[in-house]
Amino acid sequence: MELTVLLVIMFILYGNSETALVEPYNFHIECTCIRNNHFLITNCSNLELSELPTFPSNVNVLDLSFNRFGILKNKSFDNLHQLIQLNLSDNQLFHLPRDAFYGLSRLQNLNLNSNNLKYDLESFPKLVFQPLISLTHLNVAHNSKHVDKFPDEVISHLTNLRSIAIDAKTTEPNETAFGKGFLQLIHLQTLTIHNCHLHFNSYTFENLKYLNSIDLYRCLIRTYTYGTLSGRHLKFLNLVRLREQAVHGIIPKSIMHDLSNTTEETLIMTKMFVDQNIHVDLDYLIRKLENTAVQTLYLNRNNMYMSENSVRLLPKSLMFLDLSNNVLEALVISMPNLIFLNLTGNKLGNFLQRYRYCRSNITKLKAIYLSDNAIDRLVVSIFHGHPLLEVIDLSRNTLTDINFDLTHLHNLKMLDLSSNRISSLSPMSIKSINEIFKKSDLKINLSKNVLQCSCDTYQFLTWMAENSNHFIPRNDYKCKFSNCSILEIQQFKHIFLQIARECESHAVLIICISIAIFAMLTVTIVGLVYRYRWRIRYLYYMTKSKYKQNKHSDSYDAFISYADSERDFVLKDCIENFEQHGNKTLCIHQRDFLPGEEIANNITNAIHESRKTICIVTRSFLDSYYCMFEYNMARMESIYSRNGQNILFLVFYEQIRPKELPLIMLELVQQHSYIEYPHDEQGNIVFWAKLLEAIS
Ligand SMILES: *[C@@H]1O[C@H](CO)[C@@H](O)[C@H](O)[C@H]1NC(C)=O
Ligand SMILES: *[C@@H]1O[C@H](CO)[C@@H](O)[C@H](O)[C@H]1NC(C)=O
Ligand SMILES: *[C@@H]1O[C@H](CO)[C@@H](O)[C@H](O)[C@H]1NC(C)=O
Ligand SMILES: *[C@@H]1O[C@H](CO)[C@@H](O)[C@H](O)[C@H]1NC(C)=O
Ligand SMILES: *[C@@H]1O[C@H](CO)[C@@H](O)[C@H](O)[C@H]1NC(C)=O
Ligand SMILES: *[C@@H]1O[C@H](CO)[C@@H](O)[C@H](O)[C@H]1NC(C)=O
Ligand SMILES: *[C@@H]1O[C@H](CO)[C@@H](O)[C@H](O)[C@H]1NC(C)=O
Ligand SMILES: *[C@@H]1O[C@H](CO)[C@@H](O)[C@H](O)[C@H]1NC(C)=O
Ligand SMILES: *[C@@H]1O[C@H](CO)[C@@H](O)[C@H](O)[C@H]1NC(C)=O
Repeated sequence: MELTVLLVIMFILYGNSETALVEPYNFHIECTCIRNNHFLITNCSNLELSELPTFPSNVNVLDLSFNRFGILKNKSFDNLHQLIQLNLSDNQLFHLPRDAFYGLSRLQNLNLNSNNLKYDLESFPKLVFQPLISLTHLNVAHNSKHVDKFPDEVISHLTNLRSIAIDAKTTEPNETAFGKGFLQLIHLQTLTIHNCHLHFNSYTFENLKYLNSIDLYRCLIRTYTYGTLSGRHLKFLNLVRLREQAVHGIIPKSIMHDLSNTTEETLIMTKMFVDQNIHVDLDYLIRKLENTAVQTLYLNRNNMYMSENSVRLLPKSLMFLDLSNNVLEALVISMPNLIFLNLTGNKLGNFLQRYRYCRSNITKLKAIYLSDNAIDRLVVSIFHGHPLLEVIDLSRNTLTDINFDLTHLHNLKMLDLSSNRISSLSPMSIKSINEIFKKSDLKINLSKNVLQCSCDTYQFLTWMAENSNHFIPRNDYKCKFSNCSILEIQQFKHIFLQIARECESHAVLIICISIAIFAMLTVTIVGLVYRYRWRIRYLYYMTKSKYKQNKHSDSYDAFISYADSERDFVLKDCIENFEQHGNKTLCIHQRDFLPGEEIANNITNAIHESRKTICIVTRSFLDSYYCMFEYNMARMESIYSRNGQNILFLVFYEQIRPKELPLIMLELVQQHSYIEYPHDEQGNIVFWAKLLEAIS
């Protein structure tokens, strides 16, 4: 009593503040009091209570769940005239005294879930619910382990009841778990059956005339008579994880048959029959739904394969479709009213590389979930025709970039790319996302991707930093450096400095390497040109002169190549010995070269038109540019025009030591015969004779 007074004082003191702790009733009791929108909520959940404390009379919501109450006293809540919600779930109640709820005339919501109450007049005295004239929601589920039917004369007092959660069991095929007392509940629309073991037949819902929502979570269906669900106007039908007894596969077919004659708005067939490895015959199901007006359809977790044709028959009325966690490999929908589509956890990766999932060219789609589909690329036009799209979930795939078109999605608010393989986004993707940033506050989730921190991605990282308000979660990204160390991006600035430094040395390196390569190339080219300079010049002049005059003839027997200092020797001795005595024709530049023609051309022509070339080698010959030119050209001529036959003949007019000869000449001297000019009368005769023989 004193405690109650103290409590009331506490409420006067603290009642108006947002949160006030109520002083302990016993030493270990600490209920929480919260005032929320003019509701006073007292929460004594999970405090190991077995005795009811006394509460102030203005409590609106009382949560006593997860305690140890085994029995309630008569008129326990007598003074709580304002109580609207009472939660006694998860206690050990096994009996309710007749006047347990006396005085709770405003109570709307009573939860007795998970106690030890039996469905009989022992646990639920006939008049126990009589005071609850305002009750709209009752939960008595997870109680009866042995007794099957809830005593309907007890429930018949709750004439305002709108929803009930209850256990239901029938043993005979012609029985109903909901007896005549339920006929009084003219507002009861929502039925949730837990611990469901039922025969379904025309009696089952006979006394529940106004039902529009049936939740059969994990129901064990013993038998099902055609027509049980047929002809009803349902807003909601939950067939999650049905189980069937005995004959496998017939019951689902019967239920589906009835669905074609039922108008339901929401149909939940999550994991339907999967527990027993019964596969939903999807084509059959969809044909049954084709003409219904179902708007929300869950067909997730059914392990089902769907042919393209059957998907096309899904009702056009659909607005919300969940096909997640099946094994779909292809999908083409044409539902113009569809707003929400969950395709998470299928195998659409291959299909979506090439095709769109949507056939109709414009839809109202606002959210598409494609997470977990092994997608590494998407067809570019994948989201075309979805101008209202707000959410795209592509998480847990293997994407490396955004290769699909987003530019038209002006309403996009969320792009989830988390847990993919994106190391950076390409400039193209950045450009198209920038377009969206201009029009909408798009958030992008890139977490659980390992971003690349290197010079190549510097632009991408800069862009990310500039738009960090568009990325969620902010600054919670990992970055991989070129040395393979992975760092958290806590501070973009810090990272940038590092990368910028790295990039500078990178740039310097690139420039150095380029210069080195250029230098090497130049040296090589110069070397090659030098090495083949004579060949190149020879070919050049040959092509040039060939172009002009295409005749090749042995017009001369020999071309004499000499330096100016040996002019007298050539003009006098050579002409005399060759032309006058030997009857040979010589080509001598002073006499035979065409005036006006380029010297180099004249030389090449002369060598080309002579059978042999005789070089009068002296020191001035070796020093003279044109003499050496003639020598080299003759060498080339023998290689390229005379099939390697030697046409060169050296006459040493002076004594020259081998050291003084250039390498190319030394080679020839060693390989071929040469002749020295003897400078005495006797020898000269032999010399000329030999020379004549050589050029014959
Ligand atoms: C009471 O607190 C528990 C957690 O201790 C919470 O789960 C429950 O929702 C609360 N009840 C109400 C009515 O707020
Ligand atoms: C509760 O009250 C009823 C009659 O009002 C009485 O029959 C019953 O024995 C009482 N139960 C307890 C536990 O006091
Ligand atoms: C008790 O029931 C009320 C209403 O049914 C609910 O809001 C509350 O969360 C429940 N408490 C617990 C712990 O389940
Ligand atoms: C249900 O069938 C049993 C026999 O199987 C019969 O004894 C019983 O009277 C029937 N009940 C109703 C309500 O038809
Ligand atoms: C649909 O339900 C109505 C009313 O129960 C019934 O008369 C009709 O035969 C049913 N049609 C089909 C195709 O089941
Ligand atoms: C889509 O389906 C997955 C898998 O069933 C589920 O986890 C996810 O919550 C669903 N998404 C939405 C938005 O309902
Ligand atoms: C596609 O759009 C065009 C005009 O944008 C329209 O004429 C055509 O009927 C549409 N086709 C479908 C199948 O909706
Ligand atoms: C981003 O994605 C990660 C991983 O999927 C997820 O844990 C996180 O909640 C997401 N963040 C936001 C803000 O949605
Ligand atoms: C790798 O490089 C980053 C940035 O240059 C540097 O911060 C980090 O210490 C390096 N890690 C190792 C193991 O060298």
